[in-house]
Amino acid sequence: MRILVLGSGAREHAIVTALLAEDAGHELIAAPGNAGIAAEPGVTTISLDVTESRTVADFAEAEGVDLVVIGPEAPLVAGVGDAVRRRRIPVFGPDRAAAALEGSKTFAKRIMETAGVPTGRSVHAATLAEVAAALDELGAPHVVKADGLAAGKGVVVTSDRDAALAHAEHYLPQGPVLIEEFLGGPEVSLFFLADGHDVLPLSPAQDYKRVGDGDAGPNTGGMGAYSPLPWLDADFGSEAAFVDEVRRTIALPTIRTLEAEGTPFVGLLYCGLVLTPAGIRVIEFNARFGDPETQVVLPRLITPLSTLLLAAATGSLGGLPDPEFSPESAVVVVLASEGYPESPITGREITGLDAVLPSGVTIAHAATARDGDRMLATGGRVLGVVSRGDGFAAARAAAYIALAGIHLEGGHYRHDIAERVS
Ligand code: AMP
Ligand code: GLY
Repeated sequence: MRILVLGSGAREHAIVTALLAEDAGHELIAAPGNAGIAAEPGVTTISLDVTESRTVADFAEAEGVDLVVIGPEAPLVAGVGDAVRRRRIPVFGPDRAAAALEGSKTFAKRIMETAGVPTGRSVHAATLAEVAAALDELGAPHVVKADGLAAGKGVVVTSDRDAALAHAEHYLPQGPVLIEEFLGGPEVSLFFLADGHDVLPLSPAQDYKRVGDGDAGPNTGGMGAYSPLPWLDADFGSEAAFVDEVRRTIALPTIRTLEAEGTPFVGLLYCGLVLTPAGIRVIEFNARFGDPETQVVLPRLITPLSTLLLAAATGSLGGLPDPEFSPESAVVVVLASEGYPESPITGREITGLDAVLPSGVTIAHAATARDGDRMLATGGRVLGVVSRGDGFAAARAAAYIALAGIHLEGGHYRHDIAERVS
């Protein structure tokens, strides 16, 4: 197949790697891609503004691509899915209206309510006085969320009422904020492929959202992840039982509600879940593959990814068996630039990338660019070291050995990814 992948992060590198691993002779075009994606054999990268719907649709048509895969949320919310679909080109990624599941927390809450999906209680607040009343009603710890996209920075969870008020005050000029009930428990990211009517699950992963070891410091886009989650067996009997419960109570009702409302969702439904003592609760939906979770989920996928993405894009997931996954343990540790997430310092050289990597280790590039024979860091999350092995101890050890050989001035990463998993 001729496949156009939109985006430039480690998630898109993981998607490209999984498509190449099929050995099906796909022709891949990545727009804009990054230095790691460009170095993959058989991949062409092209500089395109992926949020320009018309530009992307024209390009996909001119290139005669068989499938467009939209990686990040920005093009979805900008309506790139709609534009490509109007040209009758199969596209994996929802239309703008359905992408509001991620783009608007208010929309997501309404859909969850209609679908009967379990989530935290929340209150809409348009003024500081309403915020204060809601904080007092729901109690501490306080959760305050901006309504729109904020790259993981729109949410604050704090027991400090003044800090909660200050966060709300910062976002109120952009519109109402959500004050949400605090949901305590382990978090799980579970992805579903959706074709507008049916869903198929991928394997669960856990993300590390805070910047520092032991969950210290501010929220980020994600500093590491691992998959599968062996500890689910203790609570649910098996991963399959957990996945089936989420499919039945969360993913399918959500997709069917969107379909009934005339905004069918075609693409990746990312369920951000908390396992509270009272049961599974949705903390957020995203309308695209998670980053960095994708870097540990896709390497374990045995079923050809292109078959699944095309089936979702063409409304034919129904009747397909659940995707198959290898039982091996996968870990990703993200290397970030100095100052990330507040104000990353970019443009510094990364060295050590040519070293021989331990067996089972690959590098997923996130924000890299070539400058002659130098490799530069161009963003906050620079790359992910992905490691697969027989058990988490081995996979983890190999990831950290590889990281020790990579140098970026001021670069930092978490040392505790998958530490307590066995
Ligand atoms: P979100 O942008 O909604 O994914 O939130 C980012 C992170 O904030 C989540 O992964 C959680 O760690 C935390 N968070 C969000 N909402 C809540 C909540 N209601 N209770 C506890 N933690 C939350
Ligand atoms: N890792 C969290 C996200 O992709 O939103």
